[in-house]
Amino acid sequence: MASGSGDRKYDPNKFRKYTFDTEPIPRLHCYHPDTDRLIANERPVVITDTHLADTALKWDLEYLAKHLGSGQHTVYRSKTHKFKYYDEKKIKNLPSFTPPTQVLRMTFAEFLDKLRNPGKDRYYLQQALNDTVGKQLVLDYLGFNWDYVNEQQRKFKWGPLTSNLLLVGMPGNVTPAHYDEQQNFFAQLRGYKRVLLFPPEQFGCLYSHPIHSPHDRQSQVDFDAPDLARFPRFREVRGHKVVLGPGDVLYIPMYWWHHVESLVDSEVTVSVNFWYKGGTVDKIEYPLSIQQKVAIMRNIEKMLLEALHDPDQMAPLLCDIVKGRYDL
Ligand code: FUM
Ligand code: FE
Repeated sequence: MASGSGDRKYDPNKFRKYTFDTEPIPRLHCYHPDTDRLIANERPVVITDTHLADTALKWDLEYLAKHLGSGQHTVYRSKTHKFKYYDEKKIKNLPSFTPPTQVLRMTFAEFLDKLRNPGKDRYYLQQALNDTVGKQLVLDYLGFNWDYVNEQQRKFKWGPLTSNLLLVGMPGNVTPAHYDEQQNFFAQLRGYKRVLLFPPEQFGCLYSHPIHSPHDRQSQVDFDAPDLARFPRFREVRGHKVVLGPGDVLYIPMYWWHHVESLVDSEVTVSVNFWYKGGTVDKIEYPLSIQQKVAIMRNIEKMLLEALHDPDQMAPLLCDIVKGRYDL
């Protein structure tokens, strides 16, 4: 079933249903003046006609099997449709932590085997494009529209490109809501993904795990079954949504929460993201932006943890600072 404009082919009924309202994200040509305005204001926008990764639109499974290289790639395995990210380095902070997914290393051929015979499990390849990729893939990579992205990076005063992550996911796979500390141009190459976004102003409604947690930056709220007694402000959450198809580029601003799902009952999805360090500001202006406030909250948590050496002492101390002293 076709939906949306042009040759976009997906069934709008094949998306998961959630409890909150969403409004669409604007879809604009890369030279439309509002595109620059939105990016400058760190608002998400689907940018069309960038030709950013046209040379990768042919990266189907067969092509990747031939050209991604014979090395080992990072593949996550999950017992559910959710692939909630965790930082392996932080597991030592929480001895009771049980990883929700397993990190495996395998060749692309082995990954293909898993896709063909997944059993009860789901798989999601998430591999940085690095110098282990085959020659043809290097040529495709060099053929990306670097003039376009370099121009954006300069215009919006972003820092350097830090990495390009290749994502190859099974239909129905979900990356639950989280925010990243980098600017992201997310290029959809094959299949359809729906992305739900929430502005950093909704930090208080999405209940990120504490800084010491392996799930730092991830929402604690299970969108499939939100526990409203524990997370009451999740009722206030309002999202933005977009369905991305091949050739679309979504600007995901730093600190914007995003939840990404590959269309259920559809094809394997292939995407590549372009992560850039945020820019530096020449002159601090007040009031501070919400992004700056989130950064400050993170720094306070980090400093406190460093000083206390014990995650369990964080909440009582933070409560003592606020409770009965500062009016809410
Ligand atoms: O599943 C995904 O495509 C996630 C992407 C992201 O978090 O940037
Ligand atoms: Fe992300």
